[in-house]
Parts: sequence; structure tokens; C-alpha cells
Amino acid sequence: MAVGRGKDRKSVYRCTDCGHAQSKWAGQCPGCGLWNSLVESLEDRPASASSRFSGYAGAAKQGPATPISLAAVEAEEIQRTPCGLEEFDRVLGGGLVPGSAVLIGGDPGIGKSTLLLQTVSSLGGQHPVLYITGEESISQVGLRARRLNLPCAAVQILAETELERILATAGAHHPEFLVVDSIQTVYSELLQSAPGSVAQVRECAAQLVRFAKQTQTTVFLVGHVTKEGALAGPRVLEHMVDTVLYFEGDSSSRFRVIRAFKNRFGAVNELGVFAMTETGLKEVRNPSAIFLSRGDEDAPGSVVMVMREGSRPMLVEVQALVDESHLPTPRRVAVGMESNRLAMLLAILHRHGGMPILNQDVFVNLVGGLRLSETAGDLAVALAVVSSYRDKPIPRDWVVFGELGLNGEVRPVQNGEERLREAAKHGFRHALAPAKNIVKGQNPGLSVVPVKSLREAIDAL
Ligand code: TYD
Ligand code: MG
Repeated sequence: MAVGRGKDRKSVYRCTDCGHAQSKWAGQCPGCGLWNSLVESLEDRPASASSRFSGYAGAAKQGPATPISLAAVEAEEIQRTPCGLEEFDRVLGGGLVPGSAVLIGGDPGIGKSTLLLQTVSSLGGQHPVLYITGEESISQVGLRARRLNLPCAAVQILAETELERILATAGAHHPEFLVVDSIQTVYSELLQSAPGSVAQVRECAAQLVRFAKQTQTTVFLVGHVTKEGALAGPRVLEHMVDTVLYFEGDSSSRFRVIRAFKNRFGAVNELGVFAMTETGLKEVRNPSAIFLSRGDEDAPGSVVMVMREGSRPMLVEVQALVDESHLPTPRRVAVGMESNRLAMLLAILHRHGGMPILNQDVFVNLVGGLRLSETAGDLAVALAVVSSYRDKPIPRDWVVFGELGLNGEVRPVQNGEERLREAAKHGFRHALAPAKNIVKGQNPGLSVVPVKSLREAIDAL
């Protein structure tokens, strides 16, 4: 398989800030004086002088191209291959698309290799699969596959880190699915930089993406999120690939969440939930049930809210602990939500809810290692704080959602109806919801108290 490489390309060190290029590395860019900004890359050699000035229209070998009207473009149904794990398919937008490049990022040890091994084993039955392992040895991967009882006879595996050999092997074996685990271990012999450096990661990923497009192979790239922020990690690849998935989870919790951060073939913010068990990753079809596993007693400071992740509503418990502070500046700690948002909610509580909490330490935690990324959780967080401050539990058959405005007003959120239905499905009897979200005459299956302001909500409970 001819994949662009070789004589007509050369290694160049280019400044990421000003674009200055030279053939040798230097600590400081001679162009703009910035330190550590020269990064190696492969660039095409400039065309020879005669062809450069011979006029634009005739410059290309085949002459100018013919654009067509956008309206004339026929909508092509994307063919998707379900990968066997429903939760994973949901995040991918319904399945794997031929010729697409999927980047799976995440902390080391979170379960990326396990997920891909399980995926390719279930694909391997019907489709040729090639698994390139650069991190673990073949026997390590084999041992894991055996321990997890995976049907992996149809999966071809190769331990290799040299890009050119990987491409040559893939070109000779025609897999439909190619896994490269991980992109940080792969290097191209044409670059002098070390494997894992920005230059190597970028160049190798670019070539693998080109391979995916040219051969209609689905390519998975595994990328570790590095400690030093995102430097040589998946971040530098986000713009090259079609789909970026992040595998997240609390190291102390066995639940893992996979999230679509970018997807050219589906919706972003979709969420797939897995549990890491002794026998590999298991799908969690009904996440509300696990994030709600509460004790039997009503506890102050605990409120259940209805979050929406992608296309799916989810019931999640938020806990708050308010305690008198002995520090000159009380502590405000938010786990699973933005601390600025918490500070704002506390200010609203103080000003519009009449809560004298300025001298209190406040801790807020989203149970199950989830992250609150939408404003619909505001009211629940605020009421959890109130409940803890007053030491009064909120009855356990209540759910709460709604956005809080700076004037203490409760604003409507998207998909209110659906959130109420999800709560009713899980046996909740009462809901506190924004008044504007309540449509008269509809029966979502539980009694709803519509609220217009924070004050009303506090009084209602
Ligand atoms: P792994 O897939 O190797 O992580 P990554 O590729 O993201 O670095 O997962 C490794 C972790 O998962 C490791 O800490 C052990 C745990 N694990 C289980 O708990 N059960 C299992 O069946 C497997 C395969 C791994
Ligand atoms: Mg791994």
C-alpha cells in the first residue's frame, strides 16, 4: 500500500508560535525568541522554481478542479458496524464508520486497552481485525484475552512500534479494523524526535488517519493523557481524527464513563457507562440505578437530581456538607462540578435565599465520580447546601432540577418532561421543577411542585 512518505518530504523544525523554520533544533526560536517552541515535523520539499511561478490555473498537474453545487450533493447513508457493546455504540453515534479515525484518550490504567480488546474480539467474528500493541507484550495481551474469556481467534495481533512497519503490515493484511495501542509508543524513522514527543505523535497520527481514509479502514488510536497537561497527549490530535472519546472515571470507583468529545458521525456529549469488574468491562444499561445506590436512612445534605448526558436523562445524587469554618477564608470544595459555579450558587443562596453561610465551609460532591456539566443541577446543589446547613433531610422520594439565575429566579431547562418521566420510572413520587417547564394537563407520573424562585423552592421543602 503506497502511503505518502519518503524522498519528497523532509524533517523541519518549525516554531509553533511564529512559524519560523530551520533544519536543526534549538532551545530558543531565532525568529521570535520564544523558548521551547521548535517542534519537528515532516514537510513537503518546496516545488522547483520554474513550476512555482507558472500561473495558478495551470500549476496543478490536472488543471483546475470543478466544484459542484451543495444542493446537488446526494445524501449518502453512512454505513455503521455495531461493535457489540451497546454503550460504546451509543457514544460512537450508532456504530463504527468505515474510514474513520477514532481517538480514545484517558488516564493510564483506566481501561482503554481492555475496552478495545473486548470490542475487537466481538468484531473479530465477522471482520478482519489487526491489533497493534506497543505498550504490552503479545503474551500480556493474550493472557488478558484468555482471562476475560474473549473469542479472539479472529484477531490478528502484532507487537510493533515503528510506524512504517505498522502501515506496511496493515497494507498487506487488509484489516477492516486497526487498533494502535498506544499512539505515544509509535515512532516514524523519518523523524529524529523521541517517541511520544509532539512531533512523533502528530506525524504518526496523521499518517494513520491518511491510511484510514485511503483504505476505508476504521482506525482506533489510544492516547494517554499525560501528566504535564495535554502536551504530547491526545489534545494535539483532536483536530486530525473524526471522533474523540474520553474514558473517565474515579480511580476509587469501579464505574467508568466514556464520553464523546468530538464526533463527525454523531452527537457529542453522549455517554456510555461501564463497570470495571474482575472479568473486564461490563455495560451499565441503566446508569440511574447505580448512581442512586443510597443507604436506607434519609440524610441531610443529599438531593437527587435529574441530569441529562447526551440523549439520556440520568438520576444522580448530589451531597453537600456545610460546617462552621475555623479558617479566615472558609473552604469551598466542589468535586464533580466547577468550583466557580459553586461559588456563584453560594452567593445566590446568601443573597436571595437568606442563608447566612459566609462563615461556613462548604463541600459538594457528585456521587459516583460523575461530572455535572449542565446548569440544570443548580437548584439541586443549592438545596443540598440548605439541607445540610439546616440539618434537615429532604425526603428520599423527591427529585429536583432547574437552573438558578443571579436574581434568585429558577429558570427552565431543556427536556423537562423527559426528566420527570425518568424520575417517575425510578419510583420517585415528587419533583421540584421550574414552573416554566411544567406543561398543564400532562401527567408525567409524579406530583410536581412548580417553582419560580429559590425562595419558593426552599419553602416548598
Ligand atoms: P487497561 O485496559 O490496561 O488500562 P489502559 O489501557 O487505559 O492503561 O486497564 C488496566 C486496569 O484495569 C488495571 O488497573 C486492572 C483493571 N482491570 C480489572 O479490574 N479487571 C479486568 O478484567 C481487567 C482486564 C483490568
Ligand atoms: Mg493500555
